[in-house]
Amino acid sequence: MKIESAKFIKGVLGSDNILEDGIPQVAFIGRSNVGKSSVINSLVNRNDLARTSSFPGRTQQINLFLINNSLYFVDLPGYGYAKLPGELKDSLRAMVNWYFFVSNYQQKKVVLIIDASVGPTGDDLDILHNLEDYKKDIIVVANKTDKIKQTEYEEQFKTIKKLIGAHKIIPYSAKKKIGVEELLGEILL
Ligand code: GTP
Ligand code: MG
Repeated sequence: MKIESAKFIKGVLGSDNILEDGIPQVAFIGRSNVGKSSVINSLVNRNDLARTSSFPGRTQQINLFLINNSLYFVDLPGYGYAKLPGELKDSLRAMVNWYFFVSNYQQKKVVLIIDASVGPTGDDLDILHNLEDYKKDIIVVANKTDKIKQTEYEEQFKTIKKLIGAHKIIPYSAKKKIGVEELLGEILL
């Protein structure tokens, strides 16, 4: 499985013809700052395709990247952006909810990214259960494994598995490029 080409097409704020053009969508969702944009960059092997930042709330649009001329990666704003002003926070949340639960757009896969070193939070489990209710095809990426102490790794993944339930979980590090091949295998199928 390989990515031969990746290019940013555009960012949208709501319904748009591009979301209805029939090209399959793989959506990346997760709390703000868990590394959604970094995971996309690691998959396409570029540092700068999706904009990343240590400041939560970097991504404020539904950004569409065309992969191998046949698939969109959809980079979404994070949820739970504690440091953003309330109004912006509400509008970002509404946009993400609209994309997944109100619009009729289908996703080939939804990649739910969590922070492996923190474990699934209440917000993570809320969105997971909403996605389940809407019968989305979910895969969980536990990013930032490089931040887990070796001695705590096994215990941490036991906890993650217990909370996430039946879904496939891929241990991942966008920083160290761990899990890239496995995730590509799941989403490029
Ligand atoms: P928003 O767009 O604000 O929702 O954030 P995001 O989820 O897209 O996160 P982003 O990719 O911008 O990364 C947030 C921060 O986490 C940046 O400082 C990244 O360098 C860092 N980061 C991302 N992936 C990893 C990882 O695997 N390991 C470590 N240690 N840091 C990471
Ligand atoms: Mg982002």
